[in-house]
Amino acid sequence: MGRPRPRRLLRASFAIFSLAAIAAGGPAALGQPGGKPADPKAAPAAPAASPSAGETLRHAARGRFLVGAAVSSWGLNDPKVAGLVASQFDSLTAENEFKPASLSRQPGQYRFEAADRFVEFARAHDMKLVGHNLCWHSQAPAWLFRGQDNKPLPRDQALKNLKDHIDAVAGHFKGKVIGWDVVNEAISDAKDEYLRKTPALRAIGDDYIAKAFEFAHAADPGAELYYNDYSNENPVKREKTVRLVRELKAKGVRIDAVGMQCHFVLSDADAIDKLDQSIAAYAAEGVKVAITELDVDVLPRRGRVADIGALEKGGDNPYKEGLPPAVAEAQARFYARLFEVVLKRPGVVNRVTFWGVHDGASWLNGFPVRGRTNHPLLWDRQLKPKPAFGAVLDVLARP
Ligand code: GLA
Repeated sequence: MGRPRPRRLLRASFAIFSLAAIAAGGPAALGQPGGKPADPKAAPAAPAASPSAGETLRHAARGRFLVGAAVSSWGLNDPKVAGLVASQFDSLTAENEFKPASLSRQPGQYRFEAADRFVEFARAHDMKLVGHNLCWHSQAPAWLFRGQDNKPLPRDQALKNLKDHIDAVAGHFKGKVIGWDVVNEAISDAKDEYLRKTPALRAIGDDYIAKAFEFAHAADPGAELYYNDYSNENPVKREKTVRLVRELKAKGVRIDAVGMQCHFVLSDADAIDKLDQSIAAYAAEGVKVAITELDVDVLPRRGRVADIGALEKGGDNPYKEGLPPAVAEAQARFYARLFEVVLKRPGVVNRVTFWGVHDGASWLNGFPVRGRTNHPLLWDRQLKPKPAFGAVLDVLARP
């Protein structure tokens, strides 16, 4: 996968972000005026899904790991979605609202209103809140690491900006989040390159990652700190991730868990075995594992990675009218195997977060090919539970 130049990548990322948000519900998702504010205290509607005997994911997994969902503001605005989130999940991630670009457009200027609704919703429904994210090359304002001329800032200035940003954000949410994805997607997909050449790396150097973790710990010493990435079930990226964990630990930097995004593709027959091996490898380094952005893409695609700058043209859209039962069953088996792996090492995987709640709002309707009808999650577009939902509950019910 070629690496787009930063400006292109940023534009592409914003385009996807905006498209997904607009497709999903309009301005509220972008934190723009005109969207109805979420009412965090809205009583959860009766769950639209009717799991067997009313069983829920959060109850079925209790005491073993948190089950989370990533939701956007517009999702919280929809009483049916909000009800499903509150009843089924005990951990919440904001799909966009905590990202650097959502919080700050100008140096020193922050808008926390949209993100604060998540704090309130989590509190009202006894959910843990996860901060996503403090430092990423995408959906981040240029001022952090680049000058007016778009060139990297001098190291000292960039370090100060990183610290100021983390102080402002982690400071604001201090005591309100259980942990932070401190750095997102810093490892390169290229076989022979360790770290991605991000704006932060170009301005600061390789140690921007350690610095971000140090600043986050100083700003909120009670928060867990995670390194989050996609495709880190794959051996090459796994090795680089192990290297990063070792380097951070050797410097005495706190890191609690590796976040494995797990944007999986149903046709990837080896994915679950690779996940299993990677969980073991990360556990051996003395860190926990959080599955942070789980979904299972059922559509054909060329690339396997979840780099949101990597759009594809064309591509079939075979399930416009609905997911054929055989595919829904295959997806259910995929999810079941994944949860079997999660349960294999008690205490290692401490959270499984789905990237969305229902198929209609998934980012995968627009990625990697725009405008398709994907079916990656546990609830369908009518908020009816799919076979995958029952399959996950069945695994969690086993003695
Ligand atoms: C990455 C990011 C998420 C989200 C997804 C796609 O995985 O970590 O925040 O943007 O891409 O929506």
